[in-house]
Amino acid sequence: MDVRSSDGSAGDVDYGGIGTGYVNYRRPDPRIAQVIADALGDARKVVNVGAGAGSYESAAPAVTAVEPSETMRAQRSTGLPRAVDAVAENLPFADGEFDGAMTLFSVHQWSDVDVGLREMRRVTRGPVAVLTCDPALVRDFWLYEYAPEVLDTEARRYPAIGTMAEALGGAASVRAVPIPLDCTDGFNEAYYGRPEMLLDPAARQACSAWSFVDDGVRERFTERLRADLDSGAWDARFGHLRSRPYYEGSLVIVRATPHEAQEQGQARGQA
Ligand SMILES: C[S@@+](CC[C@H](N)C(=O)[O-])C[C@H]1O[C@@H](n2cnc3c(N)ncnc32)[C@H](O)[C@@H]1O
Repeated sequence: MDVRSSDGSAGDVDYGGIGTGYVNYRRPDPRIAQVIADALGDARKVVNVGAGAGSYESAAPAVTAVEPSETMRAQRSTGLPRAVDAVAENLPFADGEFDGAMTLFSVHQWSDVDVGLREMRRVTRGPVAVLTCDPALVRDFWLYEYAPEVLDTEARRYPAIGTMAEALGGAASVRAVPIPLDCTDGFNEAYYGRPEMLLDPAARQACSAWSFVDDGVRERFTERLRADLDSGAWDARFGHLRSRPYYEGSLVIVRATPHEAQEQGQARGQA
């Protein structure tokens, strides 16, 4: 979607249509929050692009949130600062205004990821952290056996990790983010060991990929998964996941620092 929708949504989904129950299912998970905080290091003033309802903003001491969708801005809790109504591709900030930047579960929706990431780099002196999924890995999840259309959609939407690293420039690292069994942030893979959760239409609606498939796909998925859970077929193949404490799937964090910041860090280390 190139034009902003009636609620201001700027990405490839209209949160005016699917975003209302988001916070009930997508609560920040403390273990993932720690991974984000580690990536931001000692950055104090941080911009959160595609901030949604404000998940993970505790990862930095002072956060400026950017969020185009009114439906998502309206779900921010009263303790959080108001989000700026803007888009990644055109950030209303000066060069180097922030110590750090983060964008979480958002890049796959942007109309121009290269431009958006270059904007994040422009306004940030230190690390830029991108929490996203590796499109090369999204189909390796059991859900692919039940709703391949959903994960094919994800594989198309998520930008390649190498392309993002290039757009960010400087030095980039990529780390797999282990997903805890009781993950409170309900993206698809968060339910790796709790398949029953994906039978809940509201849980699915909190994962935007499901809005790209039609009712027939959702119905077939529900019928097949329910039947396999009832017969024990799901457990026979995937039941070991019910007690696996962490799952490494497609979730990754990309961290990029500008060359100057890296050189300064090394110089400090040598002093
Ligand atoms: C899945 S939600 C993630 C929200 C939040 N970061 C979180 O972790 O819960 C994706 C968010 O990205 C926002 N978004 C989509 N396209 C955007 C763009 N071009 N610029 C900035 N934000 C965008 C959406 O409005 C939505 O709030």
